[in-house]
Amino acid sequence: MTVLVTGCRGRVGSALLELLHGAGIKTRAASKNPADLSPPDGVDTVRCDLSDPTHFEAALDGVDSVFLYAEASHIDAFVSQARAAGVRHVALLSSSSVLAPDAAQNPIAASHLAVERALATAAADGAFEATHLQPGAFATNALQWAWAITASRPVELPYPGSHGDPIHEKDVAEAAFAVLTEPRLRGSSYLLTGPESLDFTAQLAILAEVTGQAATPAAVTPEQWKKSVADYLPETFADALLSYWASHDGRPVPLTRTVEELTGHPARTFAEWAGDHADAFRP
Ligand SMILES: NC(=O)c1ccc[n+]([C@@H]2O[C@H](COP(=O)([O-])OP(=O)(O)OC[C@H]3O[C@@H](n4cnc5c(N)ncnc54)[C@H](OP(=O)(O)O)[C@@H]3O)[C@@H](O)[C@H]2O)c1
Repeated sequence: MTVLVTGCRGRVGSALLELLHGAGIKTRAASKNPADLSPPDGVDTVRCDLSDPTHFEAALDGVDSVFLYAEASHIDAFVSQARAAGVRHVALLSSSSVLAPDAAQNPIAASHLAVERALATAAADGAFEATHLQPGAFATNALQWAWAITASRPVELPYPGSHGDPIHEKDVAEAAFAVLTEPRLRGSSYLLTGPESLDFTAQLAILAEVTGQAATPAAVTPEQWKKSVADYLPETFADALLSYWASHDGRPVPLTRTVEELTGHPARTFAEWAGDHADAFRP
């Protein structure tokens, strides 16, 4: 079996690559820029920008299974080429945001939903099996606070009491490993959460305790926050995030045990994630 792992410079893709290679599974590491990769010995690399369909034929040649990042722009071409190459299973890194009633109108959820639908249609047509991994908020989102914490500045938050279910990238990668290597797990959607619902204030308190650095929330208005991110975040995305945080303000996120069911161990805590990434929050 050969598994194509897309997005290998990403945190989930790179962790999955190590797991598959460690298990002796033949793996091809794909990236928009494969020259940046340092794959394990014996792992081939290939260029695969999911927004450039000219890369698909070479990337998919001889591949049985794919770990796919959710880039919707050329998903139909990807599906056609996967079918032509004889791919039997595609495991998608989707998002729990697809489950929201307004997912098709939400710019963050919409691309994930479009890719899920394209894969589901192909699967219903007998092209290959499709598995959707739907994680909630990544613990790595906390890295956006690193510059403020390392500079001993407060972290500006429009909704300090908004809840998330931070999930460790290793748990997402291990869940992907499970569905890629255990055929009976294929063909389903898996809602993955971290083990606890924590608001941003609680996440900062854990970061402070684990790293020894002050990590203080400072409430700002949604308008102030939008202005502060305007240089690098499109307005539609900023609005989608604000709306998501507002809807989770003071409202714990329902949790699942799916990580444990897929990986055989409980999901890692945010404190464990903070310990693994503590250096990013220290000057
Ligand atoms: N942040 C969250 O809370 C959250 C929640 C649910 C789901 N997600 C999903 O998880 C993804 C982030 O995963 P991560 O933590 O591993 O990300 P990451 O460490 O930020 O890496 C993102 C990787 O995605 C790959 N990628 C992006 N656009 C691509 C394209 N056009 N073609 C091929 N690969 C592309 C790139 O890999 P290469 O540079 O190697 O090509 C990039 O390095 C999000 O994009 C989203 O789909 C995130």
